[in-house]
Amino acid sequence: MVRGKFITFEGIDGAGKSTHIGFVADWLRAQGKTVVSSREPGGTALGEKLRDLVLHEKMHLETEALLMFASRREHIAQVIAPGLERGDWVISDRFTDASFAYQSGGRGLARAKMEALEAWVHPDLQPDLTLLFDVPLAVARARLDATRTLDKFEREKQDFFEATRAEYLRRAEQFPERMRVIDSTRSIADIQQELAAVLAKLL
Ligand SMILES: Nc1ncnc2c1ncn2[C@@H]1O[C@H](COP(=O)(O)OP(=O)(O)OP(=O)(O)O)[C@@H](O)[C@H]1O
Ligand SMILES: [Mg+2]
Repeated sequence: MVRGKFITFEGIDGAGKSTHIGFVADWLRAQGKTVVSSREPGGTALGEKLRDLVLHEKMHLETEALLMFASRREHIAQVIAPGLERGDWVISDRFTDASFAYQSGGRGLARAKMEALEAWVHPDLQPDLTLLFDVPLAVARARLDATRTLDKFEREKQDFFEATRAEYLRRAEQFPERMRVIDSTRSIADIQQELAAVLAKLL
């Protein structure tokens, strides 16, 4: 059995991850792939309970990081690893890059602590491809404000998101073979054209 591939979707709130995950799933299915579509925090019954706590309760920064990785541990054990072993393509709305971007970049938790959690929870697993949807904060904000009530993270201040975005872009420079920056200020149709080209190379 050929191992499947693992694709993650990243970017600040309102960057367009959820908008494009369905397109990517459909595109891969059209190529005959079996696709498992998931998200973090969450992706399992327990993970969704942790998600609810993390997104809505006030807590210590390290508690937040630990709960994110607790949710991730469960997600890997129940969904990601078995899916890849079956030969499925697993796509996830956020993964560990988001922890670095939000908890380290945005909130200032030492990167070394995040690296320790990463080395503990998934020493041998990295995405085959990470799509980083990148937009200036003002664009993301305008798109979000138009549509919904904001959660704990979405209410954060401007400098938090600037720092989060900067950490995402720093990681994209650090891991250029895995991470692809998608200019998400463009139209959805233009972005999907680029996504199809990127995916075709991964087949
Ligand atoms: N390229 C685009 N052009 C115009 N509007 C867009 C574009 N991409 C996404 N949007 C709109 O912006 C809003 C936010 O997009 P989306 O929900 O996909 O972001 P997200 O990255 O999943 O955010 P979150 O992290 O909060 O879940 C949605 O209303 C979506 O329709
Ligand atoms: Mg989303």
